[in-house]
Amino acid sequence: MPIPLSTKEDDDEYASSTTKALLPFDTDYSSTQKPSSRSTVLIISLVLATCIALFAAIAFGFLFFTVPDSSTSSSIASSTSTNIEYSRSLTKLKHPVVLLISSDGFRFGYQYKTDVPSINRLIQNGTEAELGLIPVFPTLTFPNHYSIVTGLYPAYHGIINNYFTDPETGDRFSMASHEPKWWLGEPLWETVVNQGLKASTYFWPGSEVHKGSWNCPKDYCMFYNESVPFEERVDTVLKYFDLPASEIPSFMTLYFEDPDHQGHKVGPDDPQITEAIVEVDKLIGRLILGLEQRGVFEDVNIILLGDHGMVGTCDRKLIFLDDLAKWIEIPKEWVQSYSPLLAIRPPPGYSSKDVVAKMNEGLKSGNVENGQYLTVYLKEELPSRLHYSSSYRIPPIIGLIAEGFKVEQKRSKRQECGGAHGYDNAFFSMRTIFFAHGPRFGRGCKVPSFENIQIYNLVTTILGIQGASNNGSVSFPQGVLLPSH
Ligand SMILES: *[C@@H]1O[C@H](CO)[C@@H](O)[C@H](O)[C@H]1NC(C)=O
Ligand SMILES: *[C@@H]1O[C@H](CO)[C@@H](O)[C@H](O)[C@H]1NC(C)=O
Ligand SMILES: *[C@@H]1O[C@H](CO)[C@@H](O)[C@H](O)[C@H]1NC(C)=O
Ligand SMILES: [Zn+2]
Repeated sequence: MPIPLSTKEDDDEYASSTTKALLPFDTDYSSTQKPSSRSTVLIISLVLATCIALFAAIAFGFLFFTVPDSSTSSSIASSTSTNIEYSRSLTKLKHPVVLLISSDGFRFGYQYKTDVPSINRLIQNGTEAELGLIPVFPTLTFPNHYSIVTGLYPAYHGIINNYFTDPETGDRFSMASHEPKWWLGEPLWETVVNQGLKASTYFWPGSEVHKGSWNCPKDYCMFYNESVPFEERVDTVLKYFDLPASEIPSFMTLYFEDPDHQGHKVGPDDPQITEAIVEVDKLIGRLILGLEQRGVFEDVNIILLGDHGMVGTCDRKLIFLDDLAKWIEIPKEWVQSYSPLLAIRPPPGYSSKDVVAKMNEGLKSGNVENGQYLTVYLKEELPSRLHYSSSYRIPPIIGLIAEGFKVEQKRSKRQECGGAHGYDNAFFSMRTIFFAHGPRFGRGCKVPSFENIQIYNLVTTILGIQGASNNGSVSFPQGVLLPSH
């Protein structure tokens, strides 16, 4: 059986915690920009978006437009420059190709830790989300990777956590579950093959699942095996470009476990992360070289992104559920995950509302260590910008934990220092990267940060195919892609 991606992700040993002051703003989505800096961000966006505004103006046929992503809700005034850039024509390939690469846990900012000459080629001649890509909540590997390829928030694509129990059937989902019943929505590889194009997956959560006309074809769909060297993954993808032109998949995925792997062990600020980034850069260099040797580097739309960021969890920033016993006992059987996503399902006969009230009473009493760093909600009462309630799979009680804190059941002697993710997607530390290079992307362009549910429409637009309905904005791609001729 394939082993789960990103093993330790949110094992309860990585349990963490939440804060009450996490979400002072509940508008749909400026979530990602710190409220205090919203106007700064707006100004920055205005400046940065200049290069997109040029083609956006073309796309819309006028000089002012509203950024399609309602989340950013800024409007961009285009300059009067006449230097308009169109998408570049393909020189060797016969159809558009998108290569979607995920570097797990590549926190936004890691690219500045060291020299990354190959990644910089993508940035300098491509389009970058200036302040990073915003993950969906919870900022965990499986929910995010599947949001990237479906354009849906986890409540709608069904992968609401890395592991969970279906409350109706009692069946357990884990990162090795490949039954189609878990995986809702329509992932890109399915959209692509449903419309007669070819797709290939070198690992991606959900890619082994048979859905629609996608049956995980041999040689084009690799079963997850974390032992496969990264170089071998790159070389296999390169070989697809040696196929006859019409056989080259239109959509390809490629996945690396690093630097998430190191981030969990040592946190985001350790030299081991820097080393991992150097390695990821070398892999991108190997890929670029291989594409250049085949004369297709400028023809391929490469999207290099991550699923979430990483934050250090050290110094015993812990909250223990057993400390709430004076107010309410929370047995471990009620807890589906501890942290960074605290998810609780009390058995029938208990009022979730009552449990939430008692937990919060204890947490706010001043008598629970670090209690102020956890706030518990009925899922329906979570800030709507988290989009984390419309699924029967989501347990009724969700705790939001302050950045870097963890929730555990009981006190123990265990001391650890590492890294975690899964927290509120408004935390800057949870942001990841978006670098895109290729014929549909402007050179040296910066676009404002956006949520990863926008990527589905971006890819279907590049490929010129009809996508399934999803949570991305239909006009988003026009703000990021160069207009085609
Ligand atoms: C950017 O693209 C141009 C045109 O293809 C090329 O001459 C230049 O070397 C590229 N820059 C980088 C940093 O790769
Ligand atoms: C996983 O990959 C390693 C390295 O390529 C290989 O030796 C091993 O046989 C593979 N495991 C499975 C189950 O295919
Ligand atoms: C997300 O998309 C799904 C499927 O199209 C839709 O049912 C749902 O209402 C959307 N939710 C939001 C918040 O847009
Ligand atoms: Zn991850």
